[in-house]
Amino acid sequence: MNSVNAAIHDPLLERMNFLNEITHRYPNAISFGPGRPSERSFDVQRSLDFVGRYVESVAKEGKETSTEVWARIGQYGPTAGIIQDAVARYLTNDERIEVSPASIVITTGAQEAMTLLLIALFQPNDVLLVSDPSYIGMRGMAQLLRIPVELVPSSREGLTAEAVRAAIARVRASGRRPRALYDIPDFHNPLGTQMPVQTRQALLKLAEAEDFLILEDNPYGAFSFDGARLPTLKALDTSARVVYIGTFSKSIFPGTRMGFLVADQAQGQLASDLSKVKSYVTVNTSPLLQALVGGLLLENNFSLRARTAPMVALYRANRDAMVASLEGHVRRLGLEGQVLWNRPAGGFFLRLEIPAPFNEREMNLCASEYGVICCPMSFFSDAPSAGTQVRLSFSYVTAQEIDEGVGRLCRFFKERLLPGSAP
Ligand SMILES: Cc1ncc(COP(=O)(O)O)c(C=O)c1O
Repeated sequence: MNSVNAAIHDPLLERMNFLNEITHRYPNAISFGPGRPSERSFDVQRSLDFVGRYVESVAKEGKETSTEVWARIGQYGPTAGIIQDAVARYLTNDERIEVSPASIVITTGAQEAMTLLLIALFQPNDVLLVSDPSYIGMRGMAQLLRIPVELVPSSREGLTAEAVRAAIARVRASGRRPRALYDIPDFHNPLGTQMPVQTRQALLKLAEAEDFLILEDNPYGAFSFDGARLPTLKALDTSARVVYIGTFSKSIFPGTRMGFLVADQAQGQLASDLSKVKSYVTVNTSPLLQALVGGLLLENNFSLRARTAPMVALYRANRDAMVASLEGHVRRLGLEGQVLWNRPAGGFFLRLEIPAPFNEREMNLCASEYGVICCPMSFFSDAPSAGTQVRLSFSYVTAQEIDEGVGRLCRFFKERLLPGSAP
């Protein structure tokens, strides 16, 4: 009588809420937990003015009065959205992605974009390949929709074409079809890695040869710390193999819940099929909030580069502070060689490795007794190697909190986890 979709109670499905709510559970702890943008990077109250800017600009085109535009953004709207033109111009300017507005669907965050793709693309014999570890939004939704997933183990440097090739062979050997591969090539969540250009090119070739799509999720690409950005897979895609998942959650603010899909497959038919699915999922994305994002893009000449520059500087300084704090505290506590970490070239996350298990129990202990929240890698992967790794987010803290928090974390490792510590 009371039975529900079994996936709802799978531990994987608990993790999304857990990540969203963990800071409330330990309100006084320093949080390296969730991947939130810094609140110093946005001003919601002032951003509301962009709605009026959007209305004025549309009215200036002369087809509607401003009263009509105000009414329109309070109504139900077209399913695919009202700001695809602005998003297409932004993609040309900032991402070198040239696509027609007709192949863009505005979504309620990247999360809805993933849901639409899973519903629209997969038939009974199809398998989704997912890099492992990965952001759990995609894997969790696939599980809810009972879409089979083949995990593709990532190396410490991220996904490799060889690992994808091997996963495809496994799927084919089981008589099923590899339909699509999901990954986050730029400043991966949770690994903090960036895919080299050669791997991007190799994956595009493989997708063509093996006839699968690449679902490229790119929330962090705009936050590159060390030099020029690499081209996205979509920018390199000459044969419509890549469906691009975009979001303004990190570059504007997550409360807009504004994401989008670029789906130029089948001469624009895929975008219209995805819209059809969307009409049964969220009907349309809030036109009011689309107006806010549309007005903001307009005001910034359809480029977010200048606007995000201070955020890039902030996150770069935080990355540097975290690496320097790790070096300092690890040396001071004599933990050299035991605590290892990467130095991400962008994004929000750093990966840490210790020679001891760090799972939910250790996370709670660290938060309650040492006042630091961080995220076990095992939340993103069931692979045994994930059990001794930790994701540290440096986007939502100050440099001072970073030093204090890293100091406490290293003390926790030394006093409670590492060989010779108290049990
Ligand atoms: C890789 C990745 N994809 C998607 C999302 C969710 O994006 P949105 O807020 O647009 O739903 C996140 C959020 O943290 C993420 O890290």
